[in-house]
Amino acid sequence: MAWTATATLCCRLIRLRSARRPLPSRARCSAAQSPDAVDKEYADLNLRQLYPDVCIPPFFPLFLAPVLYQSHRSSVSEPTESPEWKEVFEDPLLPLMVDIGCGSGRFLIWLAKNSGQRRNYLGLEIRQKLVERTQFWVNELGLSNVYFMFANATVSFEQIISSYPGPLSLVSILCPDPHFKKRHHKRRVLQPPLVHSITKNLCLGGRVLIQSDVLEVAADMRERFDGYPDNLAHVDCVDKDLHCDNEGWLLDNPMGIRTEREIHAELEGATIYRRMYQKIRDASH
Ligand SMILES: C[S@@+](CC[C@H](N)C(=O)[O-])C[C@H]1O[C@@H](n2cnc3c(N)ncnc32)[C@H](O)[C@@H]1O
Repeated sequence: MAWTATATLCCRLIRLRSARRPLPSRARCSAAQSPDAVDKEYADLNLRQLYPDVCIPPFFPLFLAPVLYQSHRSSVSEPTESPEWKEVFEDPLLPLMVDIGCGSGRFLIWLAKNSGQRRNYLGLEIRQKLVERTQFWVNELGLSNVYFMFANATVSFEQIISSYPGPLSLVSILCPDPHFKKRHHKRRVLQPPLVHSITKNLCLGGRVLIQSDVLEVAADMRERFDGYPDNLAHVDCVDKDLHCDNEGWLLDNPMGIRTEREIHAELEGATIYRRMYQKIRDASH
């Protein structure tokens, strides 16, 4: 109910804003092409037909983020309980990939269906409606190796992940909300306790993938993981197949599939800045 009211308000604000300031022709073109590009990327999932058409803006304008989150901010300020792992995954001992801020979840569903890895996939997302839709898709597709949770990853990751019975093999934080203003940086999903928890819970050899189309956000995440040189090495040091540019950003997407934000950003001509770390040592050594 609150979400519907918020969505209505937001749609009005979007209309108002676009009426005041027309989009440049290049942006108009990208906006029109973006959904098609996303559908094309995930065509084999055939998801659109499986859910009643609800109005979930794929990428909410950042200036409206406080309005959107306000309705449930209090409910996500406390850590979310971990699920009964044996109820959500067929084999809860498999290595786990966690996607933090998974958005629509198509990226993770695609991996769960197509990657061919014996792995479980967990998406953490703060927008409940997105999680409901994603979990609906998962059930419709009959996948037993992927699960989505409504949670504030910043405060819940440790509680959720420390109880997982298998190894944590991969964590991704892909195109997180940038929160540009300095006084809003504290709202960014990747805060020091989360970095610590990821580093601590990763299994030896486990990896972290970070990426953003906003250089400043990518650099901020990079600085945080670079702060664990005893435990994490950048993958180009341990895997000679992965190459970086002169600034240390990965040249290619190592996942074999792009996220939705990545597709939109690349259509607009943006560069994606990526780093991938591998855990080389536990903290106690
Ligand atoms: C810009 S979108 C990117 C989505 C997806 N990773 C992609 O690349 O397409 C960022 C997502 O992170 C979610 N998010 C923001 N803060 C979060 C938090 N503290 N915990 C979980 N999800 C969060 C937002 O709701 C949004 O869906």
